Amino acid sequence: MANKECWGTRVGLILAMAGNAVGLGNFLRFPAQAVQNGGGAFIIPYLTCFLLMGLPLLFVEWGIGRHGGKFGHHSTPFMFDAMGKKTFWKYIGVLGIFTNLGIAAYYCYLESWTLSWAWHSVVGDFMGKSQADVSAFFNSYIGLEMSEPVIFWLICLVLNTWILSRGLKGGVELAAKIGMPLLLIFGVVLAVRGITLGAGSNGAVYDGLLGLNFLWEPKFDSILDPVVWRNAAGQIFFTLSLGMGSIHCYASYLKAKDDIALNAMSAGWMNEFVEVVLGSAVIIPIAIGYLGIDKVVELTKGGSGFGIGFMTLPYLFAQWGPFFSAASGFMWFTLLFFAGITSSLAMGTPCMGFMEDNFGWGRRKAAWTFGLAILLLGIPIVLSQEAFNEFDYWVGTLALVVFAIAEIIMFAWAFGMEKGWAEITEGADIKVPAVFKYVIKYVTPVFLLVVFIGSIPEIWSNLTKPITSYVLIARLMLLAVFAGVALLVYFAKAKEKREEKI
Ligand code: PHE
Repeated sequence: MANKECWGTRVGLILAMAGNAVGLGNFLRFPAQAVQNGGGAFIIPYLTCFLLMGLPLLFVEWGIGRHGGKFGHHSTPFMFDAMGKKTFWKYIGVLGIFTNLGIAAYYCYLESWTLSWAWHSVVGDFMGKSQADVSAFFNSYIGLEMSEPVIFWLICLVLNTWILSRGLKGGVELAAKIGMPLLLIFGVVLAVRGITLGAGSNGAVYDGLLGLNFLWEPKFDSILDPVVWRNAAGQIFFTLSLGMGSIHCYASYLKAKDDIALNAMSAGWMNEFVEVVLGSAVIIPIAIGYLGIDKVVELTKGGSGFGIGFMTLPYLFAQWGPFFSAASGFMWFTLLFFAGITSSLAMGTPCMGFMEDNFGWGRRKAAWTFGLAILLLGIPIVLSQEAFNEFDYWVGTLALVVFAIAEIIMFAWAFGMEKGWAEITEGADIKVPAVFKYVIKYVTPVFLLVVFIGSIPEIWSNLTKPITSYVLIARLMLLAVFAGVALLVYFAKAKEKREEKI
């Protein structure tokens, strides 16, 4: 049964691609990373990484995706197989399914927190609570001292699965068409509130602008610090959903002659707008306005942004009185939820595409199997922070870089840059600057290798840290997922060969 889905409209495609990229990373991880890496000192490495690594990889991933789609492939193992020719490429392509499963396993759980916090904001549960109370609530929530986290997690899983089972046009695209505009509206309202927050009003100590200045005043002191560069590169990967296989999958549903150059640019820049403009204009100005820079630096330790997004913001919103508190909390957490769900849907599609293309599965069966896989993989994550960290590091950080190095070598060197360039520019609605041809062939691979080499000490320290039972469970699960998908790829290839003979 051939997989004949395609996008409904161009706007829908761009919104879905932007929705894929715009996620919790934009509103929580970015501001936290920026604060942790010196505010203005982070922005220069960040933008450099966007131009030299982010944009070129977007072109490459859209290119691989649309090319694969021409042959009826919607997941990276067989896209790489079609382009790279050598047998091993399809096993490298396994990473493009593996990372989606691994990230979705913890991402859906995070997403479910936003639903729960939206609910608690609306019913006024954060009113009258001290900051310590809100933090205590968060800690008991993630410590599973109540059944609520599990309930919201299951709701979130079912919702994702159900939308996925409705297909591309009627599910993913529709969700993006509803979610993205609302997200933008809520984001703008909250950003205006953050920027106009005045010292002395509603208990704020400083102007919200103090936070923005901290972020935007260029500082050059840490620009030579390799850690700042590595973190900037990591953020670019995560926020643009690069090195994952999800962009490839979305692009594979384009028609052979559809533009990719302008589409890739539009979705990429939209993500950057939402991240750099909106993402930095909500939590930073509000939190710094109330708490000052030093305290916010302390609260964003770890760089995930959970501390400030879930524990501090509801408390600060509560200072605005019952109505504005409920409205702001609702907008903030619903915004996070839309950001999250349009990303987690993107993680489901490559896995579904793989089963549909290669094993003739129907959409529904593929979607519910994906949901079940995420449920099983999520169990240790829900139970333990340690398992969560393992998934986040090995899959959400390292595997993305490894996959990106492999794909750019495959595209620019195995497939060949001339053919690759023709693929990127075919049907293009803009003239892609020729310099990208050289950037993709030489600069981005070297840049990626440097990032990888720079992270070797970190890999080593992760490998040599004490192994607890949850660390072990998480690692075994990840190995099993990789091996399982690789085995499926092997069977699928054998099946394909058998069918060719007939
Ligand atoms: N880009 C998303 C974010 O910023 C995360 C994501 C990663 C989405 C991988 C899809 C695939 O949160």
